[in-house]
Amino acid sequence: MPRRRITLRQLETFAEVARSMSFSVAAEKLHLTQPAVSIQIKHIAEAVGLPLFEQSGREIALTAAGQELLATVRELDDVWNRFEAAIADLKGFKRGKLRVALVTTAKHFLPRMLGEFYQRYPDIEIDLEIANRDKIVERIRNNQDDLYVMSLPPRELDVVSYPFLDNDFVVLAPEGHWAVGRHLALSDLAGEPFIFREPGSGTRHVIDEYLRLAGIELRVRLSLSSNEAIRDLVASGMGLTVLSRQAVAEKGAQAGLVELDVQDFPLRRTWRVVHLRTKRLSLPAKAFLSELLKSGDAGARSGA
Ligand code: PGA
Repeated sequence: MPRRRITLRQLETFAEVARSMSFSVAAEKLHLTQPAVSIQIKHIAEAVGLPLFEQSGREIALTAAGQELLATVRELDDVWNRFEAAIADLKGFKRGKLRVALVTTAKHFLPRMLGEFYQRYPDIEIDLEIANRDKIVERIRNNQDDLYVMSLPPRELDVVSYPFLDNDFVVLAPEGHWAVGRHLALSDLAGEPFIFREPGSGTRHVIDEYLRLAGIELRVRLSLSSNEAIRDLVASGMGLTVLSRQAVAEKGAQAGLVELDVQDFPLRRTWRVVHLRTKRLSLPAKAFLSELLKSGDAGARSGA
């Protein structure tokens, strides 16, 4: 394949179309006209010898060749980021880009833990993505970021994970609820309505796994993706919930909520920093990882 016929600029255009799955949106983002985008994509497809996109109904989708190219572009991006960081380091200052993706619940504590990192490396540009666990697993699979923060690393992918902080899941009820102050089993609450995180979240995985092993069925009144909304609904008396203690640790977050004394609870998991085993970490990513391990309460422990 005549590799030199494809330019980096064309690959950037391709990546943008693949990201937005739209020629017109990509054109707008890149300040190009739509025909200019189409020509660039056509040019790459000709050099590759296979189409990169196919029409599926009114939408476009990547072909197998397009998916291969996207994975390659992401690797090139990695290599380039590492090169930039290495050059910056040779020049005597830490610069570069750091891409970190967090599960939803980690946003309640992680940004605060990074204060020192921000101060020490003010020139590192940080891209922070927040999504639920299943979406983060997808991002790991696609090699989209440098590091991931989650408590249930995917078993199906070859990743390395470093524990750095405990993650306790607790049962919460509104103030004044009859269960407050009693010692109970979760099955005693089977008649109560529960408000849970959405399927696909790490929190829901933890709950569903516990219920399955304990053989308990609960009445799920509502599933939703926001810890804040769940807190508010529980405080207003809509039902009970199970959330990570970190989701209620912020100032004022516990207003109207009480942690119940339930057998087997808190369910203890561990926050971990995760990356693909094959990932060669850039200097900013290495600095971030070591900062996180130092600031966590499990700083001394690390493992695969
Ligand atoms: P979640 O993940 O925010 O997707 O529920 C929480 C976790 O991994 O502990």
